[in-house]
Amino acid sequence: MTLRAGIVGCGGISRSHATAYANLRDVDLVALCDIQPAALQTRADEYAVSNRYTDFREMFETEGLDVVSVCTHAPLHALITIAAAESGINVLSEKPLSTDLENADQMVTACADAGVRLAVSHQYRFTPLFCHAKAWIQAGRIGELRSIREVGKGREAGFELMEMGVHYFDEMDFFMDGIEWVHGQVTYHGHAVGVGDIMHSSELCKTDRRDNGMVAGDTMLIHLGGKRGASGVVELYRREPLHGWMMGPHILGSEGQLMIKPNPKTGIDEMWYCPFDVSFAAHTPQWERILLPQEDFTVDGQLWPDRHSIWSVRDMVNAIRENKQPELGGSKALTSLECVSAVYESHFTGARAYLPLEDRRHPLIKRLNSVPSSPAREEA
Ligand SMILES: NC(=O)c1ccc[n+]([C@@H]2O[C@H](COP(=O)([O-])OP(=O)(O)OC[C@H]3O[C@@H](n4cnc5c(N)ncnc54)[C@H](O)[C@@H]3O)[C@@H](O)[C@H]2O)c1
Repeated sequence: MTLRAGIVGCGGISRSHATAYANLRDVDLVALCDIQPAALQTRADEYAVSNRYTDFREMFETEGLDVVSVCTHAPLHALITIAAAESGINVLSEKPLSTDLENADQMVTACADAGVRLAVSHQYRFTPLFCHAKAWIQAGRIGELRSIREVGKGREAGFELMEMGVHYFDEMDFFMDGIEWVHGQVTYHGHAVGVGDIMHSSELCKTDRRDNGMVAGDTMLIHLGGKRGASGVVELYRREPLHGWMMGPHILGSEGQLMIKPNPKTGIDEMWYCPFDVSFAAHTPQWERILLPQEDFTVDGQLWPDRHSIWSVRDMVNAIRENKQPELGGSKALTSLECVSAVYESHFTGARAYLPLEDRRHPLIKRLNSVPSSPAREEA
């Protein structure tokens, strides 16, 4: 059976989803939706999609879709996902799943109640190099897994947490077989973040237009505890210029290291291995590039060497075909966003925040709401 796919939101990442649907066998990209006619027309012309909508509800009611990719900014993911679930459509939501756990829980419940799948598009874990690294870890090729380090691209930390942070949390969840707790320290212009430093993402980060709701801090040091005892370290701080090639895990084991980083010139991931737990550039020429056969990067006859959305789109499509949950389906879709809330919760309490969090409210908005109004505010 050929699956009917649609996309809501025709901006940057939608191209990656559209290419994926267009290249997967037995999937037709039949409809697109955007409130901006120019964005809609550009993407629809590019993929020769004739069914074009500016209202996602109308698209859901009309098109008989099997799956929809939600590619708008995070604050709209819940509204669109719940509407899709009510129309019986499986949902692949872009990350972050939402801006807070209350909304994210509603997404999970709405999809479960409607009997449709919901997954969040963290594509890294499905790529051949990440899968290969995980197989090496499981096989003991780097001894006992000790830690994984990731660094942001250089945007303000509160913004970056929602963009790259969630990807890093997902990959750590993948490599560490689950995250037990999170400890976060957040600063803004050098001082510990307080309630007065909470702001909208557009105020914190002027260089990226995406709406990530309420955020805080320009610098974060995040420590994660894995369920099997390994640690994750995520460092997010402002840096000029932005370095996309910094992203990628550095994985340390008791008997070796692995690194997966995009080549700065090509942007294509490379996996490197070193047979020591500690290494120095001048003294460790044993860093060796691990090459995988091209077949590993081939999906339906096409090569996909980078962290393309094809990997998460394919997982959802396979789940529909095989009548099972996608890998990041159900409550698993929540983990990376749980970590975001846990960072702030930990920062404000000074203690580790254990997953899943009991309090599902947005950790920043609830603190803003608990500040007593000043007399001036009341008069206004
Ligand atoms: N998985 C990844 O690697 C990856 C990479 C980039 C972006 N993203 C995520 O994808 C999401 C979108 O990012 P982007 O860079 O594509 O943003 P974008 O601003 O380029 O595109 C968003 C689009 O959504 C449209 N839109 C807004 N409201 C709408 C509505 N009610 N109905 C239909 N369309 C609507 C906008 O007009 C715009 O065209 C974000 O959550 C971002 O974090 C994920």
